[in-house]
Amino acid sequence: MKRPYAALTGTGYSVPRHVMTNDDFAAIGIDTSHQWIFERSGIVQRHIARDGESTCSMGADAARKAMAKAGITSAEIDAIILSTATPDRLLPSTAVDIQAALGATRATAFDLSAACSGWLYGLTVAEGLIAAGTIETALVIGSEKMSAITDWQDRSTAVLFGDGAGAAIVRRGDGKRGILSAFMRSDGALAELLWRPSGGAAHPFSLPVLEDRSSYVKMAGREVFKHAVRMMAEACDRALDGARLTGKDIDLLIPHQANIRIIEATAKHANVPMDKVYVNVNRFGNTSSASIGIALDEAITSGRVRTGDTVLLCAFGAGFTWGSMVVRL
Ligand code: UT7
Repeated sequence: MKRPYAALTGTGYSVPRHVMTNDDFAAIGIDTSHQWIFERSGIVQRHIARDGESTCSMGADAARKAMAKAGITSAEIDAIILSTATPDRLLPSTAVDIQAALGATRATAFDLSAACSGWLYGLTVAEGLIAAGTIETALVIGSEKMSAITDWQDRSTAVLFGDGAGAAIVRRGDGKRGILSAFMRSDGALAELLWRPSGGAAHPFSLPVLEDRSSYVKMAGREVFKHAVRMMAEACDRALDGARLTGKDIDLLIPHQANIRIIEATAKHANVPMDKVYVNVNRFGNTSSASIGIALDEAITSGRVRTGDTVLLCAFGAGFTWGSMVVRL
């Protein structure tokens, strides 16, 4: 049997109701401006979780929408794979909370940690489980409450991130639609360019950790930018080669939404014109592993892509991790 083994049969997304604009940073004492943020990143606003909104609640909401569009009930789900860098707690996984919230009692559920690339990693794992015959139906979610790990005193990172969740149902396909190629890669030697130094088992929470703010996200922005452009280019090449396609065959490129300049460089490299590139970083900021799922669901719901269209998905993130996928919808 050859690819496609598995198809994306329904998508959904969820974001918190509260919107924070670039101008709102002044009110919390951050020395920045709409002009600086927009020119460097393309971001205009982001959604930020409020009381009661969590990685679980956003993920479960996105999942319910994806299940409704796929026309399935939670009883049909065999596996729930949650990509998150912001689990609601460290033990047990947040995926099991989502399982309980959905009542998906037949499923196995686990978290996957690959930062912004995690949703594509999750889809690839689901595809593998389906191809092996281990499962029939997976729910793959990227859900991130980035506001919980953002240092709201650090202007170089606070302006970039947003909260949200994207989800897809992945099922054994009909042999025509589905995942045509997938690529994943990591480079742990670059881990400290984008990381949370403390708060894990090596340096658990303590008073000094709280005081030196080392449990929040730290990022060497310029270095990350350079690697991101290189990794996104490689990711596109590998997924296109794997599907024996070129950029000209792609109906829509959906890159991870971190920065409009990285998105433009990626599109140029992949030879996809910007009118075939999905951009919503202006409205959501960087929602880490939720970003591609949110964008894909928006693109499908708005009619920007239809059944039979070919989409190229690509991502990079902390780790570093990077990955890509060509999907026939
Ligand atoms: O999912 C992966 C997530 N990460 C990324 O994708 C990030 C990749 N990197 C980037 O997107 C860009 O590097 C940034 C948007 C983060 C920053 O843009 P940059 O052009 O690389 O700026 P920079 O970090 O080199 O900073 C330039 C200046 C600095 O001032 P000086 O030293 O030149 O006087 C910063 O202190 O801008 C200053 N700055 C700010 N000014 C106003 C940094 N953050 C801000 C801010 N508002 N929010």
